[in-house]
Amino acid sequence: MSVAKHQVGGRGSILELPSSRLAKPISYEEGNFYSTIQNNEKYLPLRPFLPHNYGFFDASASDLKRIRTKELKVVLEKLSNLELVEQSKDNVRYFVMENLTLGMRKPCLMDIKMGRRCHDFIDGYEKKIKKIKKCKASTSWPCGFRLIGLKKFNHKTGAYERRDPEWGVSLTKEQSEDPLRIFLNNGLKSRVDIAQFFLQKLKKLRSVLRLYTGLRFYTSSLLFIYDAFSNKANLRLIDFTHSHTDIPEGEEEDGYLFGVENLIKILKKIINEKK
Ligand SMILES: Nc1ncnc2c1ncn2[C@@H]1O[C@H](COP(=O)(O)OP(=O)(O)O)[C@@H](O)[C@H]1O
Ligand SMILES: [Mg+2]
Repeated sequence: MSVAKHQVGGRGSILELPSSRLAKPISYEEGNFYSTIQNNEKYLPLRPFLPHNYGFFDASASDLKRIRTKELKVVLEKLSNLELVEQSKDNVRYFVMENLTLGMRKPCLMDIKMGRRCHDFIDGYEKKIKKIKKCKASTSWPCGFRLIGLKKFNHKTGAYERRDPEWGVSLTKEQSEDPLRIFLNNGLKSRVDIAQFFLQKLKKLRSVLRLYTGLRFYTSSLLFIYDAFSNKANLRLIDFTHSHTDIPEGEEEDGYLFGVENLIKILKKIINEKK
């Protein structure tokens, strides 16, 4: 068991299990969101846009040290019950999901925080004010997305290149195309094939999200992944600590679709430039 190698965002460490699946320490709210999506047929169209859900387990830090990797693998393979288990005091709940970089030689990842609104209605007053300020001063408000982190493999230098959240939050509306452009440029050319893949996925995501009125994703991300050495790629929604499934229509808008629209526009531009 080790800490996942290819994280580009996030605070807690995601574990890589012997089965190659990932285990993310999650809050009760995030577990609840995943369970709702998993247990309700209405969310069938949305499920392919989330990392595959292999269930949950609860463990304390000392449990994790104690459990030998082989046993842990067996425990996880037996997981079939997707209901949430009551979390005991010192335990952390882990969500077991597919590793989206699996089978990639040099995975390139970009974590984009989606939406114009970055606060949850359950946030306290000070937190809310702080988050609103951050949104308005970055690309979140004008564009509906903000870069959290990226790493891409540069074929010219033979090394990874990275951008961090501080860089992402410093970008202006005029610079909002930079994350996608940098991410898709492999040092030799722009990966238009991958841009096409993301464009098709985002169009499909747009039509799926339009099916729902109650969904709100505050501070949630879109994770863009491709392999520098093949045409393998993935696009998924991740990070649901502040996501909700049952908000009345028209209330507490997140501006998620606005962000998706803008990403679609940028991808189209990148693709058309190469024609
Ligand atoms: N299913 C996954 N496969 C591969 N990498 C992932 C997966 N889920 C998350 N990650 C990586 O971990 C990072 C943090 O994940 P996230 O769910 O946003 O955690 P946090 O709640 O700590 O922000 C992402 O930016 C991404 O790099
Ligand atoms: Mg995150």
